[in-house]
Amino acid sequence: MSDSYLSFVNSPWGRWFAQTAGLPQPLPLQRHRTGQQGLANPVIVAGAGRLRGEVQRIFSATDTVTAQPATIKAPSTVKVQGAVFDASEIADLKQLDELYEFFHTNARRLVQHARVVVLGTAPEQCKALPQAIAQRALEGLVRSLAKELRRAITVQLIYVAPGAESALESSLRFFLSRRSAYVSGQVVRLEKAVDQATDIDWDKPFSGRRALVTGASRGIGLAIAQVLARDGAQVVCVDVPQAQESLQQAANSVGGTALVLDITAADAPQKLQAHVSEHGAFDVVVHNAGITRDKTIAKMTEAAWRSVLAVNLDAPLQLSTALLEGQGLKPGGRIVCVSSISGIAGNLGQSNYATSKAGVIGLVQGLAPRAAQQQVTVNAVAPGFIETQMTAKIPLMIREAGRRMNSLSQGGQPIDVAETIAWLAHPASGGVNGQVVRVCGQSLLGA
Ligand SMILES: NC(=O)c1ccc[n+]([C@@H]2O[C@H](COP(=O)([O-])OP(=O)(O)OC[C@H]3O[C@@H](n4cnc5c(N)ncnc54)[C@H](O)[C@@H]3O)[C@@H](O)[C@H]2O)c1
Repeated sequence: MSDSYLSFVNSPWGRWFAQTAGLPQPLPLQRHRTGQQGLANPVIVAGAGRLRGEVQRIFSATDTVTAQPATIKAPSTVKVQGAVFDASEIADLKQLDELYEFFHTNARRLVQHARVVVLGTAPEQCKALPQAIAQRALEGLVRSLAKELRRAITVQLIYVAPGAESALESSLRFFLSRRSAYVSGQVVRLEKAVDQATDIDWDKPFSGRRALVTGASRGIGLAIAQVLARDGAQVVCVDVPQAQESLQQAANSVGGTALVLDITAADAPQKLQAHVSEHGAFDVVVHNAGITRDKTIAKMTEAAWRSVLAVNLDAPLQLSTALLEGQGLKPGGRIVCVSSISGIAGNLGQSNYATSKAGVIGLVQGLAPRAAQQQVTVNAVAPGFIETQMTAKIPLMIREAGRRMNSLSQGGQPIDVAETIAWLAHPASGGVNGQVVRVCGQSLLGA
């Protein structure tokens, strides 16, 4: 679906009208394009925590990022595309002033579409109470900056566990790039990687890897297949028999293969296992297939309740369990589920859908520590309003509200979800486990 308001307010007359009437003025987001390095550059780096050395090492490894040390109190007018503040050793409330000084002094230096990342230590891992409080306080700062910097600037907080410093690179690269255009106000926790990734090819990270994507014939699933294939994966595209034709087209378009499978069928786990026996285990499994059957609960049929739970929740559980038990995922493997902000906030007329998507979060959090024993991570994305056939069915006024009720004042594109999944599925993302990352432009729902 095209967003005509977004085009209108970016025309000269539309801009004037929106300014005069005090209407939202979203900027068209800049997304990653093939062949583009796409990392924010130059980036100002501040804060004197334990991650400073690792940040410098990552920047020097990229060849392109010029990291400018920022002296917190010395104002500069030189514009920058990004800022990283290492707050990992902020130990008490007094030291929080450093963040005030830094952002107060440098906020105006950030250009449109800039990327801001604050690094911290998760409060539950802080021994001293003042440090735990100060570290928790970072969440409020980051979520507020994500709301007030505007101009398509995104802001995230990454808590890095002590000893997990080397797990930072894939996440820092993602959040400083155009791949994360529709992700903002997020808090991610990194632990020591469950596996040991070596020789990462940052251009084609999935080269030589096999990925399975359910619901891949259209919408978000197709975008996931495209992004994983773009980044080197051999993709097996799954969809229902009714979608066979479009599934085959999708598979052909990404140079992958089609597997016709209703993931709710009683024998779906066995069929998938048979596929693994014939073609080999997977490196990446993305549980994207999902359905809605919206009605308020008093009007909802039992079939509508059951079918939504079966596709969205039970099938990912059954298939993941079968793959983990049957060695269908290689060590270093990644399971990525697709939840929804409905599963976080709840939604009128979506009790079945929200139950299933909240259950997906439970699945991720429950399965992650178990899968880690097999060197496999389990994470989820929780998309907000994404422009697909699913959201095109929403009545006009509700659809328009859904698009604007976020800090970027627009809906996301399937590729925004796909890029986030590619980061979670990345061979270097072994330190991201049990996380649920919203792809919602910092939606007000459930925030
Ligand atoms: N579009 C949004 O705004 C949005 C927001 C939050 C979450 N999501 C989630 O993202 C995922 C993809 O959404 P979309 O908008 O691309 O939906 P879509 O309806 O365009 O695509 C879903 C795909 O899943 C397939 N599918 C359905 N049941 C299946 C089954 N039993 N076995 C195999 N495949 C099956 C469908 O045939 C279809 O190709 C879903 O899980 C959805 O809940 C979407």
